[in-house]
Amino acid sequence: MPLVTSKEMFEKAYSGGYAIGAFNVNNMEIVQGITEAAKELEAPLILQVSKGARAYANHTYLMKLVEAAIIETGLPIVLHLDHGDSFETCKSCIDGGFTSVMIDASSKPFEENIAITRKVVEYAHDRGVVVEAELGTLAGIEDEVKVSAEDSSYTRPEEVEEFVSRTGCDSLAIAIGTSHGAYKFKPGTKPQLRFDVLEEVSKRLPGFPIVLHGSSSVPQDLVAKVNKYGGAMPGAIGVPEDQLRHAASLSVCKINIDSDLRLAMTATIREFMALHPEKFDPREYLKPARAAIKEVVAHKIVNVLGCDHKI
Ligand code: G3H
Ligand code: 13P
Ligand code: ZN
Repeated sequence: MPLVTSKEMFEKAYSGGYAIGAFNVNNMEIVQGITEAAKELEAPLILQVSKGARAYANHTYLMKLVEAAIIETGLPIVLHLDHGDSFETCKSCIDGGFTSVMIDASSKPFEENIAITRKVVEYAHDRGVVVEAELGTLAGIEDEVKVSAEDSSYTRPEEVEEFVSRTGCDSLAIAIGTSHGAYKFKPGTKPQLRFDVLEEVSKRLPGFPIVLHGSSSVPQDLVAKVNKYGGAMPGAIGVPEDQLRHAASLSVCKINIDSDLRLAMTATIREFMALHPEKFDPREYLKPARAAIKEVVAHKIVNVLGCDHKI
């Protein structure tokens, strides 16, 4: 099974009322943990690579790790560029074998966002690659760029039809209250996604796949474990899983999760180091860390995305 695009996955997800998980990968243990869970649950899968991941692990290493996962699991896997910041980054991933790219020009003015997205779409479509674009600005941290809650803005539904028809993008990431990182909402507040915005967008784009970034739920048991073993994560709050499940039953076909995997890995390694201070073989702590990632991903597939047994 070669790498696939998300076209058919999203069509089935849209009509089936579920979403595909898009998990960020940075090293072998993360790839293995995610793909082992997806294989056991027969779940279609998007593995995504950020600019930072490519800088950390190198394009070719990541590409080969994902190819190895396809050989080992036989799963249909999409290899996606997360938050492509320029035409050049997208082109490099398209030329380098990715089957999907995101061009994130959401911080640019509307006309500029359209122009750069259109340019990426033309290049990608000529080569059989699909494109995700973004309208609206999420709060949080991505690729070391911090967007404060005041500078974030919900997607304006009245702009989506023009944006999609003029760019030709294949899916659209929108801002409805999710944000990147582990500190999404103020402690003590009740997180609530803007389903009114999602519904208005979906009404204007019938059948069109919507994407949610910043969708980690920041499990409190993992935060507690990090803090128990020497960490100091204050007031980390994520998106409630029932709200994500509801979004997946509507037009949301792709849900991005990274921070929860980081949290699972870090909590597990911190615990191991604290309980076994005499050990120093990386395999001994990376093995339970990989298992913890697998557990989180399995939970998301069944309880949040609803994409188990959908191959
Ligand atoms: O949305 C951002 C993702 O979590 C990737 O993060 O840019 O630190 O690799 P990164
Ligand atoms: P989280 O930080 O909520 O995991 O979001 C990840 C993401 O949106 C990657 O693009
Ligand atoms: Zn994102």
